[in-house]
Amino acid sequence: MLDIAFAKPVLPRSGALVLLVGEGELPTGLWEHANSATNGAISRAFDAAGFTGAKGKTCTILAPGAGLSRVVAVGLGKRDALTRRGLEEAGGHALAGLSRDGTASLAADGLSAEQAANVALGAVLRSYRFDRYRTKEKPEDKPKLTELAMLVDDNAAATAAFTPHEGVAKGVFLSRDLVSEPANILNPAEMARRCEALRELGIEVEVLGPGELQKLGFGALLGVSQGSVNEPRVVVMQWHGASGHGKKAKEKSLAFIGKGVTFDTGGISIKPAGGMEDMKWDMAGAGAVIGLMAALAGRKARADVVGLVGLVENMPSGTAQRPGDVVKSLSGQTIEVINTDAEGRLVLADVMWYCQQRFDPAFMVDLATLTGAIIIGLGHEHAGLFSNDDALANKLLAAGLDSGEKLWRMPLNDEYDKQIKSDIADMKNVGGRPGGSITAAQFLQRFVNGKPWAHLDIAGMAWSSKDAPTRPKGATAFGVRLLDRLVAEHHEG
Ligand code: BES
Ligand code: MN
Ligand code: ZN
Repeated sequence: MLDIAFAKPVLPRSGALVLLVGEGELPTGLWEHANSATNGAISRAFDAAGFTGAKGKTCTILAPGAGLSRVVAVGLGKRDALTRRGLEEAGGHALAGLSRDGTASLAADGLSAEQAANVALGAVLRSYRFDRYRTKEKPEDKPKLTELAMLVDDNAAATAAFTPHEGVAKGVFLSRDLVSEPANILNPAEMARRCEALRELGIEVEVLGPGELQKLGFGALLGVSQGSVNEPRVVVMQWHGASGHGKKAKEKSLAFIGKGVTFDTGGISIKPAGGMEDMKWDMAGAGAVIGLMAALAGRKARADVVGLVGLVENMPSGTAQRPGDVVKSLSGQTIEVINTDAEGRLVLADVMWYCQQRFDPAFMVDLATLTGAIIIGLGHEHAGLFSNDDALANKLLAAGLDSGEKLWRMPLNDEYDKQIKSDIADMKNVGGRPGGSITAAQFLQRFVNGKPWAHLDIAGMAWSSKDAPTRPKGATAFGVRLLDRLVAEHHEG
C-alpha cells in the first residue's frame, strides 16, 4: 500500500509536486513559492491550458524548473462546496497523475488536518493494483511511487486523522483482492482461510464446514454446493468494538451478510459461455462483508458487529442439484428450485435465518451480486436497496451519498411476493422476468423473520470496466466504504 508521510509545508527541491487549486483562486502558500521558484512557469502553463481549478480537472507541467520533475495541479472546484468525497477524489486524481514519479509531495497547506487526511485516503485508494499474476511486466511499466509526502501545517494532527482511514483502506484493498482472485485459487475453503487471517486484527472467526452445515440443516445452501468438489463454508466473524472496550453490550449487534458464490456457472441451468468469467466475482457481497470487518477492526470502531458469509461454488455435475428439486431450508420452509442459476438467494436464505436466530441483531444488511435484472434497471451507477425498515433505508441512502457508493431504493410488497408461489413447495426460487430483482428480494424477505433488514443488490457495482477517481478499473469493493460510514455515523455513540 502507498505510504503516506505528513510533513511541514516546505517546497521540495526535487520530485513531483501536487497543487490543489480551488476554482478561480490566485497563487498562495506553496503554490506561490513553486510558481516564483520556476519563474512563473506554473501560471503560464495554467493560462496556456485554460486550467482554472474546475472540479476534477488536472493540469500537468513537466520539468517546470526549480528541480521539480513535474507539477500536477488538481482542480478542487469552489472551495466552499468542498466535501469529504471531493477531497478524496482530488487525492485520487493526484495519484493518477503521479504514478511514474519516484518521489512526490502534495501541497496540502491551507487544508485542515482532517481535509488533508481525506486527500491522502483518496490517493491511497487510487493506488490499488492487483498484479499478483503478472510475471512479465517490465519494471518501467510498474508504478514507481511508494510514498507520498503530504505537506500540511498541522502534520501531527493530520497523521492522527489519517490513522483510522488507513485501517479502512486496508479493508477496501482486502475486498478488492478477494474479488479479483480467480476462482481456481479462491474457492470456499481458501476464502474461509483468508477470513481466519482477520484474527490478527482482533476479530473472532468461526468456520462452519459441510459436516456442521448438514447437522444444522443448511439445506438450501447445501443444495447449491452439492455439484462442486469444492466444499462449502459459512464463516462467522465478530468484532466486539463496543462491549470489548469496557462498554457493556447494551445494544444489539449490527449484522452484515454476504453472498459468496466463488464461481457461478449457473449449475445445471448453465449460463452461456460469453462473459461467464465475470462470475468469479459472484462472491463480491461476501468480499465486501469481509473487507468491512477488516475496516471496522482496522480503525477500532466502537461498535459490536457480526459479519456472516455463505461460501459455495455453483457447478453442474453428476451430483448437482436439478431444476425441480425441492430443498428444505434451515428455517424449515421448503423451496422448489426451478432454476439452479438463482442460487444466491438460496445461500442467503440459510445464512440470514441462522444470523437472526443466533444473534438477534439490531438489523441485518445483506449484500449480493444477486440479479442481472438490477443491472438492466439501475446500470452501473446505483446498487438496488430493498428494505422493510424506512429508518434503516434512509440511513443507508445517506451513507451512500456520503461515501459515493450510491443506492437507489426499490419496492417490496405482497403483490410481487405472489410471483414466487410454488405448486408443490412453500415457494419457488424464481418469479419470472418481470421485476426480477424485486422477486429475488421478496424471496430473501421470507428468511428475515420480521427483523429490520436491508438487501443491497450490487450486481452492477462490484466490478467496473473504467477507472474512477478513487479506484482503478476492476474490483470496486462496493459496500465497504458505504457500510463503514453507516456504522460511523449512527452506531458508535
Ligand atoms: N450471479 C448472478 C447474477 C449476476 C448476473 C451478477 C450478472 C452479476 C452479473 C445470479 O446468480 C443469477 O444468475 N441470477 C439470475 C437469476 C434468474 C435465473 C432468475 C439472473 O439474473 O439471470
Ligand atoms: Mn446464478
Ligand atoms: Zn450468482
